Amino acid sequence: MRLVIDSADTKWIKKLVDYFPIDGVTTNPSIVVKEKKPFLPLLREIRSLIGDDKDLFVQTISTDAKGIIQEAESIVNAISGKVVVKIPVTMEGIKAIKHLHSLGIRTLATTVYTPMNAFLAAKAGADFVAPYVNRIDNLSGNGVKVVEEIEAIFRKHELKCEILAASFKNVQQIQQVCLAGAHGVTAAPDLIESFIKIPSISSNVEDFKRDWVSLYGEEHLTIEAE
Ligand code: G3P
Repeated sequence: MRLVIDSADTKWIKKLVDYFPIDGVTTNPSIVVKEKKPFLPLLREIRSLIGDDKDLFVQTISTDAKGIIQEAESIVNAISGKVVVKIPVTMEGIKAIKHLHSLGIRTLATTVYTPMNAFLAAKAGADFVAPYVNRIDNLSGNGVKVVEEIEAIFRKHELKCEILAASFKNVQQIQQVCLAGAHGVTAAPDLIESFIKIPSISSNVEDFKRDWVSLYGEEHLTIEAE
């Protein structure tokens, strides 16, 4: 199961890659512009932080298949290592995914709102689909159920496409898509950090240390061979 950072903030990426078992980084135009940096140098900086063996997901901007394909080719040529091109599931997007699959360029179909969006993208050869869980919830839908149904369709019909669930507002949604069978999640850095940033854990750790120091005096273990 993949754990991916949905951000282009290099400070966060550096920290999370150092501490957590991270599998890659997803970006989109809105995420990139927040950093106010030139596009390609930013992507290369992210690449240098995560290494060549982790997936870097980069989204296209053009809305016609020809433009999407050209952008996809430029992206994979300009960035080293494992790159996945993110393409929205429009008519033109599906056409582009189909063509890029025939060229061996890996794609992720993004802005997925329904199981049939995902089905079409997988049939076209997308390597990943990204259902937008929180945005589906905000439309009074059920993002977790959409993930569950995509998983059932892919499994029943042996479609070789991974669900990288995206768009989360809280950890509960992430936990539920893990249970629903998503193959991975991509989430904002602060949400990933909050998997483990629980006051009870810090409080327990402080108690253990205080108890230890009260008898042994030292703030660490000293094991001496006899
Ligand atoms: O990866 C897709 C994601 O960035 C969308 O998330 O939180 O803007 O709905 P959000």
